Amino acid sequence: MQAKYINKATDLAKELITKAVSKKDIVVDATVGNGNDTLFLCDLVGEKGKVIGFDIQDMAIKKTEEKLKDKNMMARVFLINSGHENLKNYVDTEVSAIMFNLGYLPGGNHDITTNYETTLQAIKQGIDLLKKNGIMTIVIYPGHSEGREEKKRLLEYLCTIDQKQANVLKMEFINQINNPPLLVVIEKK
Ligand SMILES: C[S@@+](CC[C@H](N)C(=O)[O-])C[C@H]1O[C@@H](n2cnc3c(N)ncnc32)[C@H](O)[C@@H]1O
Repeated sequence: MQAKYINKATDLAKELITKAVSKKDIVVDATVGNGNDTLFLCDLVGEKGKVIGFDIQDMAIKKTEEKLKDKNMMARVFLINSGHENLKNYVDTEVSAIMFNLGYLPGGNHDITTNYETTLQAIKQGIDLLKKNGIMTIVIYPGHSEGREEKKRLLEYLCTIDQKQANVLKMEFINQINNPPLLVVIEKK
């Protein structure tokens, strides 16, 4: 049965991103996947904004392009078939939001998944690029072995971020079975 307000880490991420993003903003989708978050961000930034999206899978980029073409939104997106660990090679401006939806592509090859080393590199670069009061959301999936390791390693790092630089919040269901996804939110100060 669905609750009314707190169901999924991904929905909570979207609520916080919505608060931080205005029309014309530049934002990053660090894990494009099936393009659902890219589409959501395209809506938020409007036709004068820009969404920069990364995915290592050509299939993810192509599927997302199709989705955006259908909605006539290609002009507001820049899709990059490369790892988010290369973020700063492509983005040299401040951004108001960055979304990470980690793990593997639903419906795709489950062996191709994010891993903590490259995710950490991307998070560090992303924090540098966030503008004041910019928001980064990171949805972590500890239900598979790579995801469990990723959760452990990312939390070890995220706890050490200087509170003068950013607030870091962890939102985790504590009464659900099967290792549900958790959300970490970072707001740059
Ligand atoms: C859970 S899916 C993302 C779902 C997506 N946000 C959506 O709305 O459908 C995770 C994605 O991360 C991608 N990925 C894995 N490693 C990556 C990396 N180093 N850089 C960018 N994307 C990566 C995978 O290919 C996969 O498509």
